[in-house]
Amino acid sequence: MNEQRLIKEISRLKRKKNAVLLVHNYQRPEIYKVGDFVGDSLELSRKAAETKAKIIVFCGVDFMAESAKILNPRKKVLLPTFEAKCPMAAMVTAEELLKERRKLEKRYGKNNVAVVCYINTTAEVKAFSDICCTSSNAVKVVNSLKEKNILFVPDKNLGDYVSRFTDKRIIPWKGFCYVHARFLKEQVRRAKKLHPHAIVLAHPESPREVIDESHIVCSTSQMIDFAKKSHLKEFIVLTEAGMIERLKLEVPNKKFYTPGIICTQQKKNNLQNVYNCLKNETNEVNVAERVRIKAKRALDRMLKIK
Ligand code: 13P
Ligand code: SF4
Repeated sequence: MNEQRLIKEISRLKRKKNAVLLVHNYQRPEIYKVGDFVGDSLELSRKAAETKAKIIVFCGVDFMAESAKILNPRKKVLLPTFEAKCPMAAMVTAEELLKERRKLEKRYGKNNVAVVCYINTTAEVKAFSDICCTSSNAVKVVNSLKEKNILFVPDKNLGDYVSRFTDKRIIPWKGFCYVHARFLKEQVRRAKKLHPHAIVLAHPESPREVIDESHIVCSTSQMIDFAKKSHLKEFIVLTEAGMIERLKLEVPNKKFYTPGIICTQQKKNNLQNVYNCLKNETNEVNVAERVRIKAKRALDRMLKIK
């Protein structure tokens, strides 16, 4: 089937089956066209928590679909391909987390340690965390806690970024996003010279030296908001390259530059596998109930923070 036909068929199946398509900003632009909502991790979690649809097709990566399932145990959550797996989410296991938590509790006291997990984690890791966070609310989440010592998993760069805006002791894990880790300060400096009127927007998964060369640090959807509201016309965008397509669509009268680094896992979804999974109701995401109940606490606690 060609693109037009696939789009038509997916739209028809969505109506017939009462399905909703939630799409992360990094997805292929043709997938935006069939999406009911396109957004960042926090917005997508909120949408997943609110939806009345019977089926959720999650066009993103594994942990996003899993989060939707944790919030909606009675709904069918489908991931177009199980190859869409975030490597950073695999950088901490529940066993490793528990071991580290116990060590810290011995050192600082049980009541003075909390675990904050980035949403880019498995359901098991969420189950052993006190609260979840995303790139758009990590600082707020950490500052909402009463504990002084915060074990922050798995992204060391986001943990480091948060540590600049809190008086808590952040104990970062050693995980990272391979896409954002590829940005270098020299590259940002060169881009700034090449586009002297551009403002630099960086995602907080970027390394500190890159953050230090940037003007605004925010989540993917916050980049869209900023570009829309700003009087400036040019932006250097330091996040996954697909974000440029979103920005061009949402803010068509401005210019965006990217170093062009792609997250191959986010691009594993395409119109064909979206169609296949919706038609056959395959690739269902499931989470064991005892894990789900505990993981939900960490997600619900985050969603309460406005
Ligand atoms: P946000 O869209 O929440 O900023 O996250 C980016 C990301 O890397 C998700 O995998
Ligand atoms: Fe994971 Fe990075 Fe890809 Fe986001 S961009 S899904 S954090 S590997």
